[in-house]
Amino acid sequence: MTTTTISEVKSINTPSVIQINADIPLDQALEELIRNSKEISITRGKRKGKFETGADKEGLELLPESSKERLQADGIDIQAGYPEAPPREDIPIYLDQAFEIRNYDVPFVDRGKNADPEKKSLFGAATEIINLTKNVGTEIVGLQLEDLTDQQKDELALLIAERVVVFFRDQKLSPSAQHKLGDYYGNVEVHAQVAHVPGLPGTTVIWNDYQVKKGMNLNFATSNLSNWDSTKYLNVGNQGWHTDLVHERQPAGYTHLHLDAIPDVGGDTIWSSGYGAYDKLSDEFKKFLDGKEAVYVSAHQYLDREDPFGGPKRIERVHPLVRTHPATGWKFLYVNRGMTKRIVGLSPVESDLVLNYLFDVYEKNADIQVRFKWTNSKQGYGTSAIWDNRISQHRNVWDHEGDQPRHGTRVTSLAEKPYFDPESKSQREALGKYLHQWD
Ligand SMILES: [Fe+2]
Repeated sequence: MTTTTISEVKSINTPSVIQINADIPLDQALEELIRNSKEISITRGKRKGKFETGADKEGLELLPESSKERLQADGIDIQAGYPEAPPREDIPIYLDQAFEIRNYDVPFVDRGKNADPEKKSLFGAATEIINLTKNVGTEIVGLQLEDLTDQQKDELALLIAERVVVFFRDQKLSPSAQHKLGDYYGNVEVHAQVAHVPGLPGTTVIWNDYQVKKGMNLNFATSNLSNWDSTKYLNVGNQGWHTDLVHERQPAGYTHLHLDAIPDVGGDTIWSSGYGAYDKLSDEFKKFLDGKEAVYVSAHQYLDREDPFGGPKRIERVHPLVRTHPATGWKFLYVNRGMTKRIVGLSPVESDLVLNYLFDVYEKNADIQVRFKWTNSKQGYGTSAIWDNRISQHRNVWDHEGDQPRHGTRVTSLAEKPYFDPESKSQREALGKYLHQWD
C-alpha cells in the first residue's frame, strides 16, 4: 500500500506529518483528519475562539444561578457540563453535507392562518394588551405561555404575524415547555453547530457572555463592525441587524427567546418590520422588486469539497426577495445585511446598490422598529419574546458588556417554503393606511 504526504501540520495534538492513503480521496482524508484532530477548528471562519463540542464543564461554572435553577427544575441533567454542542462526529464538514440537512419539503400549516382575527380568546384572558409602538411590538400581561389553549396559541400566532413581535414578562417557563410550544408552531430547528440545552436539541442557548469568555471578540469597539458589511468585517455575534436561518429551505418563522438571566440595565433587543420596510418603497420600486429572487447565506461556514483549501464558505439558497405571509396575506421585504448576498439576474454593481438601499430602509426607520427592555421581576421567572423571523430583522445590544449575566434559550419553528403571491397586498394597502404617491 502506498502512502502520500499531502501536508505538514504542526499542532499540539496532531502528528507533524499527515500520512494519507493514496487510495482515499482527498476530501475524505481531510474530513477524517479534521474530525479526529480536536485542535483543528471545523468551521470557525474569521471568528476567534476554540470550537467546543459536547457538554462544556467550563460553561457550567459560568452559568447564572437563575438559569441553573430553571434547568434543574425541568429535570435537565447538567452534571456533565453546559451548554452542549453537537458531537464532533455529527457536525458537517462540507457545504454539501450542511446543505442536505432539512433539504426536503416538510409540511407546515401556519397556526395563525385560521385564527379568530379578533383574538377574543387570547385578549379576553389577558389583563392588559400594550402596543409598545404604533406599528411593531405588543406586550401581553396576565397570561402564562405554558397555560395557553390551542385556540389562544393560534390567536397569538396571528398577533405575532401582524405585530412582528409579542412579549410576555414574568413567565414561569421550562425549556421543555418552550420546546413544546415551538413544536406547535412549526418544525423546530436543530442547529448543526450551535450549542443547546443538554438533552434538548432545538432549544438553542443564547449566551453572548459565554461566547465572549470563550474568545469571541465582542466588545464596545468591535460591536461597531456589525453595522457594516459582514462579509468583509468581523462578524461579532448577534449585534448587527439580521434575520435568523435564512439559508434554510424552509426558513425560520415563529421564534421564541426566553431570557432567564437579565441584567438590571442593558441587553435590550431591537426588531424592525419587513412589512414596514416594504411599504416605505414607491409603487414603481415595489413593482421592480416583486417577483425577484435573491441568494441567502448561512451564518455558519463549511468547507467546499471542490476547493477545501479555499477556506470556510457559507451555505447558499435562493428565495423570493418579496414574500407573502401565509397568515396575514401581506407582502414583506425579505432581506438582511448579513445574509442576503445578491439579487438574481442583476449585475453585481446593480445588486449591491439596490440591496444596500433596502438594508438601509430596514435599519434606519425608527417608526417601523421597537426596542425592548427585558425585565425579570420575580425569582424563578423570566421574560419571553416571540417574533416572526419571516417578517423582521433584529439585533441584540451588548451594552451591559457582561457586567451582569444575560442568558436565555431560543426555540425556532421553521415555517413554509418562501413564496410570493402577486395578488397579495402590502400591510398598509390591506389596512387602508396612507401610502405616498410620488407623482
Ligand atoms: Fe438572531
